[in-house]
Amino acid sequence: MKNKNIFVLVLFGIFIGLQFFSPEKIDHGTNTPNLMNVPQDVNTILRTSCFDCHSSETHLRWYDKITPANFLVNSHIKEGREALDFSKWNTWPKAQRISTMYYSMNKILSGEMPIPSYSAVHSSAKLDDKQIEILKKYVLSLSPRKPAENLQLQSAEQQYNLWIKGELKKSAVKPSPNGLNYIPDYRNWKAVSTTDRFDNGTMRIIFGNDIAVKAIRNKNTNPWPDGTVFAKTAWKQLIKQDGSISTGEFLQVEFMVKDAEKYKKTKGWGWGRWKGNDLKPYGETHDFDNECIECHKPMTNRDYVFTSPLYLISQLTKIKKQ
Ligand code: HEC
Ligand code: HEC
Repeated sequence: MKNKNIFVLVLFGIFIGLQFFSPEKIDHGTNTPNLMNVPQDVNTILRTSCFDCHSSETHLRWYDKITPANFLVNSHIKEGREALDFSKWNTWPKAQRISTMYYSMNKILSGEMPIPSYSAVHSSAKLDDKQIEILKKYVLSLSPRKPAENLQLQSAEQQYNLWIKGELKKSAVKPSPNGLNYIPDYRNWKAVSTTDRFDNGTMRIIFGNDIAVKAIRNKNTNPWPDGTVFAKTAWKQLIKQDGSISTGEFLQVEFMVKDAEKYKKTKGWGWGRWKGNDLKPYGETHDFDNECIECHKPMTNRDYVFTSPLYLISQLTKIKKQ
């Protein structure tokens, strides 16, 4: 019995002695403000579960301050802050904030964060399903391709229907600075192709008139016959809740009108662009179309046309139904 008491006493002595050794001091006290533009509930979760190691603000429990636990805790904090310091959030560019949130979400879902040995002792840092749901929802909302609100979809649908019926602009549309006239009829042409630009959130539909469609059918497209017209419309993209994409705000329409003789100076095509709902002609001077030609140049040996016609895309059926 006596031996055991001495043993405990010695252990206690060592423990007391250990308290004279402590790890290098780190600043625990600097308050970390709420993360800018992040919802309050998300802020609260990150503060409770992550800020101890990933911010300038650390709330140590009494048991964290006891040697040897403090060595472990300090090294976690030091490494954690080095890897990710949320107190610098407000200075990060938007892209960095988004990628940090994605990365954090991954670390949480894989069970790596918060560090399990830490949350085993600090139960308040543990994340429950509800908290994980809140974080997930937030991180998904950061995606640049986020679902549109119903109201937005409704007004886009309305605008699209007006556009189909040609009512978007009733008054006369001014010609392009190079003299090319606007062709309202293109809405009734066939959609020959569509491109979906994920990078800038636009959707383009390219229409061809009857001559273009016939040329496609007869594989008579290089060069395109005189009278061929292409219209390229650009819309903002809207993502529906189910992930499907539809047209949003109307941005612009561009035309290429083929006449080898008449438009000899501009590679056999008349070029024009009309922007926005009021169809304002684009370009300051009559030779603004050099800009179009410059960019279409890679297609020189395909008569300056990018589009290789692609039939029966979903847009075609959508337009036909109207
Ligand atoms: C007990 C301290 C501690 C807690 C609490 C903690 N982490 Fe960490 N975290 C670390 C350490 C240490 C590292 C660096 C070593 C590593 O990657 O495992 C790290 C690394 C990370 C990284 C990787 C950073 C990089 O660039 O490699 C992310 C992201 C991360 N933590 C997110 C979180 C999130 C989100 C939480 C809260 C849900 C959290 N952590 C909670 C200690 C902690
Ligand atoms: C920055 C480069 C660029 C410029 C500038 C440009 N285009 Fe295009 N254009 C393209 C690309 C690429 C396509 C193929 C479809 C797509 O990716 O949207 C295209 C397609 C078109 C089409 C459909 C026929 C085809 O070639 O596929 C028309 C019509 C058109 N452009 C008209 C114009 C007009 C008019 C201008 C000048 C006001 C212009 N473009 C300026 C890059 C450009």
